[in-house]
Amino acid sequence: MPVIEVEELRRTYSSRTGLRRSAKKDVEAVRGISFEVERGELFGLLGPNGAGKTTTIKMLITLLLPTSGRARVLGFDVVADAREVRRRIGYVFGGDKGLYERLSGLDNLRYFAELYGVAPKEQGPRISELLELVGLAGRERERVEGYSRGMRQRLHIARGLLHRPEVLFLDEPSIGIDPVGARELRETVAALVSTGTTVLLTTHYMFEADQLCDRIAVIAGGSIVAEGTPAQLKERVADGHVVEIEVYGDAGERIDAVRAIAGVTGVAVEEGATSQLLVVRTSAAAQVTPAVLGTLDGVRLGRVATREPTLEDAYIELVRDV
Ligand SMILES: Nc1ncnc2c1ncn2[C@@H]1O[C@H](COP(=O)(O)OP(=O)(O)OP(=O)(O)O)[C@@H](O)[C@H]1O
Ligand SMILES: [Mg+2]
Repeated sequence: MPVIEVEELRRTYSSRTGLRRSAKKDVEAVRGISFEVERGELFGLLGPNGAGKTTTIKMLITLLLPTSGRARVLGFDVVADAREVRRRIGYVFGGDKGLYERLSGLDNLRYFAELYGVAPKEQGPRISELLELVGLAGRERERVEGYSRGMRQRLHIARGLLHRPEVLFLDEPSIGIDPVGARELRETVAALVSTGTTVLLTTHYMFEADQLCDRIAVIAGGSIVAEGTPAQLKERVADGHVVEIEVYGDAGERIDAVRAIAGVTGVAVEEGATSQLLVVRTSAAAQVTPAVLGTLDGVRLGRVATREPTLEDAYIELVRDV
């Protein structure tokens, strides 16, 4: 039995705008999505801002009622059996508030253990085990006000795990965390999955998703536009190569001309501080580099490189037209 089963799940937010009651605006945040997550899997939900990821997670953790459709976690319906679901899951939102600043990390965990009904004689060993897991062992007696953002986030994860949830929902856990902290966080999540916990995670960092996720659903405009392993998603654009060209100065309307070259399947422009990076995707056998460089004749160029497609390329391709 899958640990998470989502069938045609839908959520519409209704909000009244303006003074007149008739000025009603509906936002279809989630438009009938379906997916399943198996036990022990690390499942990623990727998508642009406003795609419906947080709304989906809130329905799964019973904080928000679906407008229609159905979802079950560990076999329990998120509406009819909300209590049963809640007892068995944990969740952490990125940039989460809710730690007690003046208390030590240890006292925070003791407090929440009490709140979550962890049996008193289990609390000590459970907390030690979690401090170890999230890499805060040795720092637990310091006050949280002196913790870095990464340490706080790891403390949040420990908090979310106190009652031994079988499923953990992480909504952008690495937001605002520096590269070293984010790497440590990924190690924590990977360690967690290796102990058998099922994890559903959202992130905007594609390399993070690539590294961590067993499977990914890409959601855009409230619908799932693709689903598969990172390798499968990459295959969608991997029948070709990616040519990256550093452009100094204005490539302007030349970009449309690059798009029109036979064999070019997509062009994206990434703005840098002093240059632009032109990311040109090509189909299988196409040798487009000479044609692209010809089109850019007269524009000052920097580095030109060919590489294999990444998950980010696949992602941009998938959400581009939505
Ligand atoms: N409480 C609310 N009332 C009205 N509309 C909402 C509410 N919460 C979210 N929305 C809208 O629903 C849509 C989906 O939002 P959601 O927060 O689920 O997106 P998301 O994928 O989590 O985005 P992000 O990557 O920015 O976190 C957006 O259009 C958003 O503006
Ligand atoms: Mg969100």
